[in-house]
Amino acid sequence: MSKVLVIGCGGVAAVAIRKCCQVSEVFSELCIASRTQSKCDTLARALEGKTATKITTARVDADNVQEVIDLINNFKPDLVMNIALPYQDLTIMDACLACGVNYMDTANYEPEDTDDPEWRAIYEKRCKDAGFSAYFDYSWQWAYREKFEKAGLTALLGCGFDPGVTQAYCAYAKKHEFDTIETIDILDCNGGDHGYPFATNFNPEVNLREVSAPGSYWENGHWVEIPAMSIKREYNFDCVGNKDMYLLHHEEIESLAQNIPEVKRIRFFMTFGQSYLTHMKCLENVGMLSTTPIQFDGQAIVPIKFLKALLPDPASLGPRTHGKTNIGCIFTGKKDGKDKSYYIYNVCDHQECYREVESQAISYTTGVPAMCGALMLLTGQWSKPGVYTVEEFNPDPYLDALDKYGLPHREKQNPVLVD
Ligand SMILES: NC(=O)c1ccc[n+]([C@@H]2O[C@H](COP(=O)([O-])OP(=O)(O)OC[C@H]3O[C@@H](n4cnc5c(N)ncnc54)[C@H](OP(=O)(O)O)[C@@H]3O)[C@@H](O)[C@H]2O)c1
Repeated sequence: MSKVLVIGCGGVAAVAIRKCCQVSEVFSELCIASRTQSKCDTLARALEGKTATKITTARVDADNVQEVIDLINNFKPDLVMNIALPYQDLTIMDACLACGVNYMDTANYEPEDTDDPEWRAIYEKRCKDAGFSAYFDYSWQWAYREKFEKAGLTALLGCGFDPGVTQAYCAYAKKHEFDTIETIDILDCNGGDHGYPFATNFNPEVNLREVSAPGSYWENGHWVEIPAMSIKREYNFDCVGNKDMYLLHHEEIESLAQNIPEVKRIRFFMTFGQSYLTHMKCLENVGMLSTTPIQFDGQAIVPIKFLKALLPDPASLGPRTHGKTNIGCIFTGKKDGKDKSYYIYNVCDHQECYREVESQAISYTTGVPAMCGALMLLTGQWSKPGVYTVEEFNPDPYLDALDKYGLPHREKQNPVLVD
């Protein structure tokens, strides 16, 4: 019996909320809050009579710590699920600390305003020291470790699929399959087709920032950075077929490099179709991916925010997306002194997701892991004071929950490796 405050009511949050409502014995009360309360009300109404979970809604601007504190004090949750945007991670963590509540999210912090000089100075130093230039990194949230430890609270970071389940797969491989892991390749394949020439499967602003950034991977104790989309491979994915995939920087590489220190190389690949890449390059070339405001007709406009307003809402892609996703990790390493390789992954069907929760598989594969992470925290299976990423917890009950609630894992020994 727990009370959970969910901040955000977009594509991912809607799935997580619907899944929480399937487990009412744990999620007995939910409060759904975002800046636009009407969206939360619409979802609450859609769930009326279909769940034993009691649902209320609220309006909150999570950029404002005091507003989040007031909401927490009013609702008194056991856990805050931050499924808004990465821009709100720190303000919501501050509010959780002030009120003595556990915290979780699905993506690590990045600032909305990358031109802020104070942030930029820290960022530029980090680029030089660490060797990768993505706007997002864990340092901001890892800085809260001591505060959460002292408060006896748990903060669970990045609990979607990737980051999230991919790290649970790493913890599982380390626990059951290997004595030492030498390489990890994380493969994220979306074989779905929504019929639009160009659309993003989750928040366009966050998605396009991530994909247009330089790629990087971890090798022999340091980052290697490469121009965006400059490493391409082809892979034959189970249930999807052959797809081109490109090496990207991705946040879980940073925590995995720390938590599985023997690993020599960690890479992340994502599949993209040619139409997506051509559109993205063109938009980038004309300046539409810029986060710096421009003056237009006496008004300041942020190009990427304007683009977001033009693109299809990811939540609207559900009914029109067909095909499957295949996301997982390929490992090489040693067990009992012998070389071995191992692949663990999930296959998810867009239309099956839509039939179950009225959403496509990208939101589904993020929302279900978020619900399962909350379940681990609320049932005491993952509780320890501090700030943690998924690979730092016991993967077994989490994989059991994922199997049960819609994202069963598949395994292969001796898979085809990525060169
Ligand atoms: N780990 C993974 O595998 C993975 C994969 C995909 C996405 N994600 C993450 O999942 C999160 C949600 O993505 P999404 O696609 O669901 O995004 P989305 O559809 O744009 O939804 C974002 C939600 O956050 C709310 N929001 C934004 N700013 C807010 C603020 N200041 N205060 C309160 N609410 C605010 C928005 O509502 P209002 O505008 O009405 O406030 C909206 O309901 C993102 O952080 C994304 O990076 C993780």
